[in-house]
Amino acid sequence: PVLVVDYGAQYAQLIARRVREAQVYSEVVPHSMPVADLLAKRPAAIILSGGPSSVYADGAPALDPALLEAGVPVFGMCYGFQAMSRALGGTVARTGAREYGKTTASVDTADSTLFAGQPMSQVVWMSHGDSVTEAPAGARVTATTAGTPVAAIEDDERRLYGVQWHPEVLHSEQGQRVLENFLWKGAGIAPDWTPSNVVDDLVTSIREQVGEDRVLCALSGGVDSSVAAALVQKAVGDQLTCVFVDHGLLREGEAEQVEQDFVDATGVDLVVVDARERFLDALAGVTDPETKRKIIGEQFIRVFEQAARDIVHDRGDEHHPVKWLVQGTLYPDVVESGGGEGAANIKSHHNVGGLPDDLQFQLVEPLRTLFKDEVRQVGLELGVPEVIVWRQPFPGPGLGIRIIGAVDAERLAILRRADAIAREELTRAGLDRDIWQCPVVLLADVRSVGVQGDGRTYGHPVVLRPVASEDAMTADWARVPYEVLATISTRITNEVEEVNRVVLDVTSKPPGTIEWE
Ligand code: XMP
Repeated sequence: PVLVVDYGAQYAQLIARRVREAQVYSEVVPHSMPVADLLAKRPAAIILSGGPSSVYADGAPALDPALLEAGVPVFGMCYGFQAMSRALGGTVARTGAREYGKTTASVDTADSTLFAGQPMSQVVWMSHGDSVTEAPAGARVTATTAGTPVAAIEDDERRLYGVQWHPEVLHSEQGQRVLENFLWKGAGIAPDWTPSNVVDDLVTSIREQVGEDRVLCALSGGVDSSVAAALVQKAVGDQLTCVFVDHGLLREGEAEQVEQDFVDATGVDLVVVDARERFLDALAGVTDPETKRKIIGEQFIRVFEQAARDIVHDRGDEHHPVKWLVQGTLYPDVVESGGGEGAANIKSHHNVGGLPDDLQFQLVEPLRTLFKDEVRQVGLELGVPEVIVWRQPFPGPGLGIRIIGAVDAERLAILRRADAIAREELTRAGLDRDIWQCPVVLLADVRSVGVQGDGRTYGHPVVLRPVASEDAMTADWARVPYEVLATISTRITNEVEEVNRVVLDVTSKPPGTIEWE
């Protein structure tokens, strides 16, 4: 792999993603990892990320010079560039010339590995206080900016490179090309991390892991569990059984997409548990959001547990027990939980958390090396239907937390129709990839007066909550064109009799959350 050494800023994961966009496999490692351990991973190259503002700051992480002497190509960015320059004998000074944000770099394209084939002047994104004032011996200076005389260094002989800016952020116009030049030319790595190779590798390792044993998977209808199941299916075929708990809180068409389209596309052995009534009964009269979540989570576990027992009993045998449970854990979860390589904990995710002791499963986590966009690519490669692959995030408790007030079958039917219209129109307008997700919320206990034809109505409002986001941690309300909003509003109030008002939520997160409950 290419190892991205994380110096503690928020950039390491982004760099790892950019490396993979250059079709090279990458992993994030903490800066505290000893050089020997790092080299034991046999890295094809090492990238030093940005980090704290100054190499002179108290507790600024050190760079062990041994890392630069191992013969492995190294690329330092921002803090990584300064730490590297200093370790190689260059000078880093507090020049007082701070540069933040966009600036222009003049680059030497003639005698450069990093900048070959690029414009001589490029907008780059900077964020630094200290500067490298003297390049290390043996390194050429191939870029300068107004405030930074040494903005890039290159040493082809030792294959050591660095830039003062952040090539991983989109504001750095040529950033991806600089990174590709390092990876493909400087480090000589072949770009072969493609979806079809990824699928082949994962299939091989799943086969090795589970052997002849049987595997169980809880399908939610979301992207991750669907792609994980499709991968395991490709690897071990009919050793896999999937369980889909239909809790009746999904949106229009979603249960059918899992029960029919997904099965047709992948051929998985699917057990569908129709638990709609059970969930409705348990939710009757409940209005508090956290209580709803708790009830839905508990019911889910009970239903899944029973299905799992039946499957262990029916499908397993002494020689091929049902021993494995598929989890859709993604790479960011792995990095955020410390990159642990040991036994993974089941996420406290309601889907499959808290299984009883007599159902001891080991985990198969086929997606644990992948970012979300890679999961989608792998899904497409495996032939998972596009409606599932491109599905927007949808909360586990589903429509249960999009009805403000108590949940019942009638209210679910109203919301399902309004939601289907909103989704259809957003898709028709080509906005699916611009919008992170668009909850449609039914204010079931609110009534407002309206007029339809010559009659007065007393109906419910629905709220449209389209948001733009990178990771759901923060979000902004999405600027959906007025015409699209108008069409959605007209259609919902015409086609869903019980709804006589459509309102738009224009709150960012924070202070609002994405969901209303
Ligand atoms: P909030 O509303 O907290 O949502 O801004 C952030 C993201 O999480 C989703 N969400 C949930 N997902 N179980 C889930 O699996 C839940 O209880 C839950 N609540 C919110 C929400 O849709 C958004 O993507």
